[in-house]
Amino acid sequence: MFTPKYKLYIDGKWVNSNSGKTFPSLNPAKPKQILGKFQKGNEVDVEKAVEAAEKAFDSWSNTPAPKRGLIILKAAELLKKNKEKLAKLMTREMGKVIAEARGDVQEAIDMAEYMAGEGRRLFGHTTPSELKDKFCMTMRMPVGVYGLITPWNFPLAIPAWKIFPALICGNTVVFKPSSDTPLCATKMVEILEKAGLPKGVVNLVTGPGGSVGMSIVRHGKIRGISFTGSKTTGEMIVKEAGLKKVGLELGGKNAIIVMDDANLNLALDGVIWGGYGTTGQRCTAASRVIVHEKIKEKFEIKLVHRIKRLRLGNGLNPKTDVGPLVNKAAQEKSMNYIGIGLREGARILIGGKIPKMKGFFFEPTLFTNCTIDMRVAQEEIFGPIVSVIPVKDFDEAIDVMNSVEYGLSSAIYTEDIRKAFLAIQHIEAGLTYVNSSTIGSEVHLPFGGVKHTGNGTREGGIEGINEFSETKTVYVDYSGKLQKAQIDIE
Ligand code: UN1
Repeated sequence: MFTPKYKLYIDGKWVNSNSGKTFPSLNPAKPKQILGKFQKGNEVDVEKAVEAAEKAFDSWSNTPAPKRGLIILKAAELLKKNKEKLAKLMTREMGKVIAEARGDVQEAIDMAEYMAGEGRRLFGHTTPSELKDKFCMTMRMPVGVYGLITPWNFPLAIPAWKIFPALICGNTVVFKPSSDTPLCATKMVEILEKAGLPKGVVNLVTGPGGSVGMSIVRHGKIRGISFTGSKTTGEMIVKEAGLKKVGLELGGKNAIIVMDDANLNLALDGVIWGGYGTTGQRCTAASRVIVHEKIKEKFEIKLVHRIKRLRLGNGLNPKTDVGPLVNKAAQEKSMNYIGIGLREGARILIGGKIPKMKGFFFEPTLFTNCTIDMRVAQEEIFGPIVSVIPVKDFDEAIDVMNSVEYGLSSAIYTEDIRKAFLAIQHIEAGLTYVNSSTIGSEVHLPFGGVKHTGNGTREGGIEGINEFSETKTVYVDYSGKLQKAQIDIE
């Protein structure tokens, strides 16, 4: 079968890598199916990409922001026009079920539309001066050349979270996508090109994290890095990036609290969606369920019943509920955690095996009787494995919720408004959902986490603009004389 070969995009041209090497992207539901061969970029390619981005910066950052917005709006239109095609391609490249792949494209469209509109805002603020005849304001400045390093689990949405705000703020970009989803990334860049983005403004370098990613992170002419991925890589980035502006979106060990007064059917929907949606491969996945002991047994029986009904299969089939994991390593990682959980004394209620199917599938799994000292209750698995942790009351539920190093998303199911607000107040996480699952953030609200989930930055909405811009403080003194702040205050 003919395998298409894709290229790097540098300075407005599709080019081969200096390495002369390629790597394949395959379909995790049918690993023999290769979607394409991609350039195995290296340091030399990064150098060229940075040079192109630097060269394009002056003209792009001086293009009026509303005009930049129009190009982004055009990209939104093209994403919309190609939504179905892109969704199918995404399912084939990384396995998520087609309805979710459509959602992923939609999230990219939403972000493009939001950020296009931002071109007519990019607000700073004005405030009075402590001195007479003096004007004070802030304005936004671009950061410079931005390195964007993105994961495979949201192959269009997450690049969109980074590319569109970076562009609207006037930055130019070197984009390095995950090697599991280079095709989706290539399609995104093709769309940007078609939308009329000037050459050099976005440059695509596919290839390994160790060489391409790290040379972006270390590059002296790159002023900002935005990364979504593992905690280990995030820590390495912080060490290597020097004085760049760094935005990190790392792991999660998100939990859903189900109180004894919860609407159980609603909570079941939330656990199924949060735990097994995207085959558990979301930073926001609900991989822990903290259940009040009074309803534990009843809830587990219902949950197992629901899990049994989940259909595993190729995500292109609209009847499939759970697609494959992204690759063999992910499948092995999930399998490994089954052994870890069992050895630690957790009990499997359902699942725990690799089914006899061709792709990288894994049975939706439920562990029970977990305690906070277990690794399955602490570590991010990124697979369809959920751990039930029973608790005796609300206070213990909050303690268990906060017992992990991460703090991305969280949820509580309760009909008691007091408990809902106490949870909002005491949960250590960037996102808290009440009577809704841990996944489903919207683009105009900030997204990000506390503790080891990141370094305090947020993406989306106006906070996403903060990530990709610098603030300049401006003082205009029109008094005609020297006025000294803090001194001439009479
Ligand atoms: C992620 O898993 O890294 O809220 C992002 C959500 C999605 C984004 C998840 N909108 O689950």
